[in-house]
Amino acid sequence: MKGVILAAGKGTRLYPVTKAIPKPILPIANRPTLDYAFDQLKECGVSEVCVVVGENEAVMREALGDRTANGLPLSFVRQVEPKGLAHAVGFAREFVDGEDFILYLGDAIYDRPLKPYVDQFRASGSANLNLVKPVEDPRRFGVANVEEGRIVKLVEKPAEPESNLAMAGMYVFGPQIWDVLPDLQPSGRGEYEITDAIQMLIDRGHFVEAGIYDGEWFDTGTLESFLATSRFLTHSYPVVGEGAEVSCDVHGHVVVGDGAKVTATEIVDSVILPGAVVNVSGAIRGSLLGGEVTSEADLVEAIKFGDLD
Ligand code: G1P
Repeated sequence: MKGVILAAGKGTRLYPVTKAIPKPILPIANRPTLDYAFDQLKECGVSEVCVVVGENEAVMREALGDRTANGLPLSFVRQVEPKGLAHAVGFAREFVDGEDFILYLGDAIYDRPLKPYVDQFRASGSANLNLVKPVEDPRRFGVANVEEGRIVKLVEKPAEPESNLAMAGMYVFGPQIWDVLPDLQPSGRGEYEITDAIQMLIDRGHFVEAGIYDGEWFDTGTLESFLATSRFLTHSYPVVGEGAEVSCDVHGHVVVGDGAKVTATEIVDSVILPGAVVNVSGAIRGSLLGGEVTSEADLVEAIKFGDLD
């Protein structure tokens, strides 16, 4: 079993921070985001990991290239243009080399082990297993219709979802996926959707199954979800990194990275990245700050990274 992590996205919803630090290596609860993926893949028994990168290639290679993924051999391939998840997977074909593989969306974090789903896939002999989770508003996800454990229909971001089961960012594939990818057409949003590729497996009579996940699942893509993930991972306790200096009251969930210096009246529910130098006249609340940030405002409630914007 191999592991493929998709990490080519630009992370625009966390700009400007992700202009300085690509989202996959942004520290969350003081660990690079992808470390949580590496942990999971290792636990699933994968033998090797390939990270699909994009424009962030150089920074990603520099940050991760001299390490192995928690003891697993790590390699990189570049998706030349951002044309969707199924397009990105195509670049890992040579790496996967006909084996079964786990496809993992780089910004996903789960609090439960994923190994049981890999075991389920192996035992069933299906062409593909997809992690699905019941959610309140499925409209912003791929949505699965499931009958007795089998996925019978999949729709990407439907306006009127037929079920509450969202595609939750982890997929296990056998080699059948490589036969459908060349026939895939771009979706309405101009992307080659992994959801459409899986629908094609279903249409061609393959057994596609659901792994129902009922643990916590976070994606770190927006400020709100980034802070919620960080809060969850730190159990809401304040975390102050090595060599950090904080000259203000700290309330709620706060993470201050190694070597960061923070001056403010108070800091509430916020993340300060390693090495940041933050000087604020008022309070900091619900923020993600890095680099040199200076403000005379009464309240900073924002994503900032030095002079980038
Ligand atoms: C992608 C997939 C979608 C899935 C979601 C999970 O959507 O296309 O099927 O439910 O990830 O996070 P995107 O976030 O690329 O819009």
